[in-house]
Amino acid sequence: MNITMIGTGYVGLVSGACFSEFGWNVTCLDRDADKIAALEDGQIPIYEPGLEPLVARNVKAGRLHFTTELKTAVRHADAVFLAVGTPSDPHGRADLSFIHAAADELADALEGFTVIVTKSTVPVGTGREIARRIRARRPELDFEIASNPEFLREGAAVEDFLRPDRVILGVEGERAAELLQTLYRPLALLQKPMVITGLETAEVIKYAANAFLATKITFINEIADLCEKVGGNVQDVARGMGLDGRIGPKFLHAGPGFGGSCFPKDTRALVQTGQDAGAQQHIVEAVVAVNEARKAAMADKVAEACGGALSGKTIGLLGVTFKPNTDDVRESTALDLVPALQQAGATVQAFDPVGMDNAKPLLPDVAWQEDAYATLEGADALVLLTEWNEFRGLDLARVKHLLAQPVVVDLRNVYTPQEMNAAGLDYYSVGRPP
Ligand code: UGA
Repeated sequence: MNITMIGTGYVGLVSGACFSEFGWNVTCLDRDADKIAALEDGQIPIYEPGLEPLVARNVKAGRLHFTTELKTAVRHADAVFLAVGTPSDPHGRADLSFIHAAADELADALEGFTVIVTKSTVPVGTGREIARRIRARRPELDFEIASNPEFLREGAAVEDFLRPDRVILGVEGERAAELLQTLYRPLALLQKPMVITGLETAEVIKYAANAFLATKITFINEIADLCEKVGGNVQDVARGMGLDGRIGPKFLHAGPGFGGSCFPKDTRALVQTGQDAGAQQHIVEAVVAVNEARKAAMADKVAEACGGALSGKTIGLLGVTFKPNTDDVRESTALDLVPALQQAGATVQAFDPVGMDNAKPLLPDVAWQEDAYATLEGADALVLLTEWNEFRGLDLARVKHLLAQPVVVDLRNVYTPQEMNAAGLDYYSVGRPP
C-alpha cells in the first residue's frame, strides 16, 4: 500500500513515520525544501520523544521517503492524507487556505482510484467541500473522501499513534472504509476499537473530544479557585471526583490554564462553527473566556505571593513551553505571564530544557539562563510554570539558598506544601492550602 502525507508538520510527520512502521510505503511531502532536505539527512525539525529513531529505522528500511514534488508523490498513492496547517484566522475560524490549495493541486495530479483523507483538524463540512472542489476541477477523477482525525498529544505522539484509545474513520463510500481499515489493521489486531461513521460525524468527534477535555481542565481550574477561597485541596477533590468511573481521573490537573497548538485553536473554531450553524456552543464559549482570563490572572497570583507589588522584583521562571516534553510554546501561559510581569515592573530570568529557542523571539526581554539553579539566583520568587521532570526533584535547600526571598509559586502543583514549608520556603500553589 502506498501512502502520501501532504504536510510534514507535527501530525503529518508523526503519522507518516508511524504508518511506515506498520509496514506501508510512505512518502511525506512538504513545500519547505529546507525541511525536506533536513529530514532526508535524518534531522527531525520538532522535539518529540521516540520520533527520531522511528524515522531513521523506516528510512533505512526503504519504507519512508521525503519529497517536495507533489505530482510524483501522489500519482501512485492508494491514500493521500492532508496534514497541512489550519491556523486560526482573526475571528477564531480555522483558516483553510492550505487545505484548499492542497486539494486543488491534488485534483490536478491524481491518477487512478485514490482515497483522500483529512488528518488535520478541519471544521465540520471541510471534507465535503474538498470533494466538491476536486470534482469541479476533475469531474472524471475516481476518488473517495474520508476523515481520520488524530488524537496525538505532543510529547507522547508516537505512543498515542501506535497505541491509541480508538481510531475514527469518517467515510462516504465502501472503498474508503475498506482501505482505511486495511491501513489500520495492525491496530485492529491489538483490539483497538474503530469507530466507522460519516464524514461530518468524524469531524465533529475531533472538536467535541478536544473541547470536552479543555472543559474538564477549565472546570477543575475554577474548582481550584474555589478551594483557595474556602480552604479546600483541589488535588483531593480531583481524586475524589475522578474515582467515579463516569468522570475519570484524567485531565483534572489544575494549573495555569491550557495552551498549545490544539485546545485554544479548536475551542475557538468550535465556537465559530456553532455560531455559523445556528447552534451556539455556550459551554465552549465560557471555556474559551475563562481560560483566557485565567492565563491573564497568573501574574496577579505571582504579585500576591511577592507581597502585592512586582516593581523592582526579579522573577525566576522555570518552564516556558505549554507542557513538558515538547519545544512548543504556542499559546503557552508564559506568553501572557512574562509580559504581564514585565509590565508590572518585574525583571524575568527564565530557563526551559528545550523550549528556549522558540521562546526567545517571542519573549525578547527575558534573561535566559543555562539551568534551573542559575535561574533562581537572586530572584525574589521562583515561578514553576511547566512541569518538566527535571524541575520535580529540585534540591530545596539549594533553592532556598539561591533565592533572595524564599517564595515559590508552583503553578503545576509539583511539590507538596509540607516539603516546601519544611525547607523554609513560602509556598503558593494552585487550589491547595499553603
Ligand atoms: C491535545 C489532545 O490531548 C490530543 O488528544 C489531541 O490530538 C491534540 O490536542 C490535537 O488536537 O492535536 P496536546 O495539545 O498535545 O494534545 O496536549 P495536552 O496534553 O492535551 O495538553 C494541553 C494543555 O492542557 C497543556 O497546556 C496542559 O498543560 C494542559 N492540561 C492538561 C492541564 O492544565 N491539566 C490537565 O489535566 C491536562
